[in-house]
Amino acid sequence: EKVDSQLIVIFGASGDLTGRKLIPSLYELHKRDLLPEKLCVMGAARTEYTDEEFRNIQRENLEHSQKGKELKPGDIDAFLEHICYVSFDSGKSSDYYKLKDRITEKQTALNLPDKVMYYLATPPQMYDLIPQYLQENGMNVAATPEGWRRVIIEKPFGTSLETARALNKKLMSIFDEKEIYRIDHYLGKETVQNILVLRFSNGIFEPLWNRNYVDSVEIKVSETLGVENRGKYYEGSGAMRDMIQNHLMQLMGFIAMESPAVFEAEPLRDEIVKVFRSLRPYKSAEIDLNVVRGQYEGYRQEPQVSPTSTTETYVAMKFFIDNWRWGGVPFYLSTGKKLDEKKSEIVINFKSTPNQLFSGQCSGTSCNKLTIAIQPNEGISLQFGLKMPGAGFEVKQVSMDFKYESLSKVYLPDAYERLLLDAMLGDSTLYARSDALEASWKFIDPILAHWKESGDQNLYPYTPGTKGPKERKPLKVLPRPCICYSKQQIE
Ligand code: BG6
Repeated sequence: EKVDSQLIVIFGASGDLTGRKLIPSLYELHKRDLLPEKLCVMGAARTEYTDEEFRNIQRENLEHSQKGKELKPGDIDAFLEHICYVSFDSGKSSDYYKLKDRITEKQTALNLPDKVMYYLATPPQMYDLIPQYLQENGMNVAATPEGWRRVIIEKPFGTSLETARALNKKLMSIFDEKEIYRIDHYLGKETVQNILVLRFSNGIFEPLWNRNYVDSVEIKVSETLGVENRGKYYEGSGAMRDMIQNHLMQLMGFIAMESPAVFEAEPLRDEIVKVFRSLRPYKSAEIDLNVVRGQYEGYRQEPQVSPTSTTETYVAMKFFIDNWRWGGVPFYLSTGKKLDEKKSEIVINFKSTPNQLFSGQCSGTSCNKLTIAIQPNEGISLQFGLKMPGAGFEVKQVSMDFKYESLSKVYLPDAYERLLLDAMLGDSTLYARSDALEASWKFIDPILAHWKESGDQNLYPYTPGTKGPKERKPLKVLPRPCICYSKQQIE
């Protein structure tokens, strides 16, 4: 598909995301010849840089991100030709004329169509102000009928249902829903997209993909790093807002959704919303039994973190999706910082055989699991039991594996590359829609409210480098509730 020639403005261009992800991703697209014929990437921030100075900074970033990769001589410089910079205060409406003038100047010089994408790589407090100031300066609509405006918003998208709703309302009064791209970089990961292909292009998995055959679903994202230099942001966020509400919920949506009628943005996103709306809300007395939060030892001493902080750096939770496909199947989500490994994976645990003929590794529990390794060692493996060689009938769990690395010539793009390209093409399939975000906040909000009330009660410390607080363990052995009730009955 052809990408329209366009101009991209990156707000927050002197920040970390621009140098670490956005510019390197655009460069990878350039290397693969996927950029439009004419492109201008305009960094925008308060710091005073000339175009040359900004390019030099990005050259360093690129040299760093390209270390060990094959490079054509002069190619980075050829790419940097696309880049320019404008210094202005995006927190002041009266300063936007500088941006407007620079856009016009570049559009004229390069003979670009009036197609402009705004990327908000700024602190979240700016997510409603920048669009408002763009509107006040007449920059939210294109001047020509074939032109367009698009806006990409980073996470966190709100901090609660109320704030997410207010932000959506404001954005949608300035841009059309189809012009708003709410990024969740997990949806840009190859293995995550492959969930859809695995499920909907193979006849063998889908018949088993339901409460009749699935015992439970686990979605785990563990990280070894702590909060690093992001203490200030993380204090107001915590693992629930930083990871669960967006990344893990989206993964769960892909695992649990029905097949859309066609593979297009709206039908696909309709199916995800249906899943979120079927989540069984917790009653407040159930929260501590089903949601465990932890904080790594030493977190309170991190820079810009309060010495009495009750922010969670670990969450494990169990919940149900009350619909015909999933009724009664527990979903377990967990994520945490400073754990023992960096790993994201999804495990579908299938039910056991009705009786156990053999002894050995899988007796009593099922041997059958489908594991989707999102990172590292991207791949998919199916586990099942087979006979140990030799006398008797001892069962051993074996695995049939697909690893992306076996496709040695295939380039695995970074999530941002895929998502940026999609937005440039106008394809929002892999971006979150307003109703899905609101539905996921609606589910999460009562948990956050309950924690706020409980202070540090039930906030369990854990030692860095471990699997998280030991209190996470009982989640898995809670008796399965009866599945024959209606929502009214349990309320
Ligand atoms: C970000 C979170 O969205 O995702 C970070 O803000 C987290 O706290 C990161 O470390 C994890 O992403 P990935 O792609 O490394 O799993």
